[in-house]
Amino acid sequence: MDLISNPFSPGAGAPPPELVGRSQILEQADILMARVQRHRAEQSLMLTGLRGVGKTVLLTEIARRTRAAGYHTISIEAHTGKNLAALLIPPLRELLYDLNRVAGLSHKAKQALAVLRGFVNALRIKVSEVEFSLDIEPQVGTADSGDLEADLPRLFQTVAEAVLEQQGLLVLLIDEVQYLSKLEFSALIMAMHRMQQQQLPLVLIGAGLPILPALAGQSKSYAERLFTYPQVGPLSAADVALALQDPAKEAGASFTESALQEIFRITNGYPYFVQEWGYVSWNCAPHTPITLQDVQIATPLATQRLDSNFFRVRFDRLTPGERTFLRAMADLGTGPYRFGDIVLVRAVEHSALSPVRAKMIKEGMIYSPAHGFLDFTVPLFDEFLRRTIPDPLDTAMV
Ligand SMILES: Nc1ncnc2c1ncn2[C@@H]1O[C@H](COP(=O)(O)OP(=O)(O)OP(=O)(O)O)[C@@H](O)[C@H]1O
Ligand SMILES: [Mg+2]
Repeated sequence: MDLISNPFSPGAGAPPPELVGRSQILEQADILMARVQRHRAEQSLMLTGLRGVGKTVLLTEIARRTRAAGYHTISIEAHTGKNLAALLIPPLRELLYDLNRVAGLSHKAKQALAVLRGFVNALRIKVSEVEFSLDIEPQVGTADSGDLEADLPRLFQTVAEAVLEQQGLLVLLIDEVQYLSKLEFSALIMAMHRMQQQQLPLVLIGAGLPILPALAGQSKSYAERLFTYPQVGPLSAADVALALQDPAKEAGASFTESALQEIFRITNGYPYFVQEWGYVSWNCAPHTPITLQDVQIATPLATQRLDSNFFRVRFDRLTPGERTFLRAMADLGTGPYRFGDIVLVRAVEHSALSPVRAKMIKEGMIYSPAHGFLDFTVPLFDEFLRRTIPDPLDTAMV
């Protein structure tokens, strides 16, 4: 069918034609914002889920709703190459200048700009990569000690007070939270603790891999009372049908019932794969409706596309030792996998594999769903590994 009118959108963070199955989380976010604005205590949200389940598109949708409700938003994505302060400073500066403009001579916004200036000065070396100018004198002695755990809560407090002065609400959206350093995560938790204690109008909605609750708990024991962790999981059969049928109908076509069931069966309801199968099936179908046979023709092509991008980019980043480890996991079938069993497949000592395991957990390739167990953070990665490396002893060849 017509390639140009294909409505499906496989891709990282690519908004789907229809965002299905997430109304509960969206409602939770709406309630959080409305409560905090009315000075009621509410836990911040940390959305957790595997790769490609739709965390980023959910954050984007929450940001859209936030702006539509007239709240302020700041959206950042954590990554290992840039520190949290450097990511936060430019949007905070923009927000404070905006607040200052709207309110004419806003005392609190001006004060917050001076505090931000002091914060920047104290961290100058670490944020040198930020193009930054503030034509205001720093406020000496506030949020400028250079110790992030002390300064970030103080900075958030000053910013939130400026927001409060105008009866506003600031929603801070952070994607890929697991990539914050230990110190940054701890400072962020302490800052949010301060917001809650003082009932200030700043809420955090984060997203990241399922390792987040463990990381937060290790950092501060009170973190479990600060955050709730809604799980972003695979879609139900009914939601997969909606995600495919509605956009197809809007574009003047449709799927047969058996085509929808086949896509659900193959993708296990994982949103990225649903978009991919929708996209390729549409392109393979000679005309509407898109049938089971069209989906069957599309399957090897969709698999090949996933293998050469979604899975491949992750695989290419791995060292030979990591590949061997992961292939040993895949040899055990579908996860979760007992660490002891992986050790047995490799026929080596526990201690030989522990550092590889720790590094891959840190990089977000695998996670521990329960004590002593491991699983892939990329859905269906085990199948990819078995397809790509038929013999578990052959990883060096790929
Ligand atoms: N609720 C949904 N309904 C339909 N399609 C969805 C839904 N959520 C996500 N998608 C699609 O799934 C794909 C992956 O979404 P997204 O990039 O947000 O996932 P992610 O969880 O952020 O992945 P990663 O951990 O790799 O960053 C996109 O193509 C998106 O359009
Ligand atoms: Mg994402």
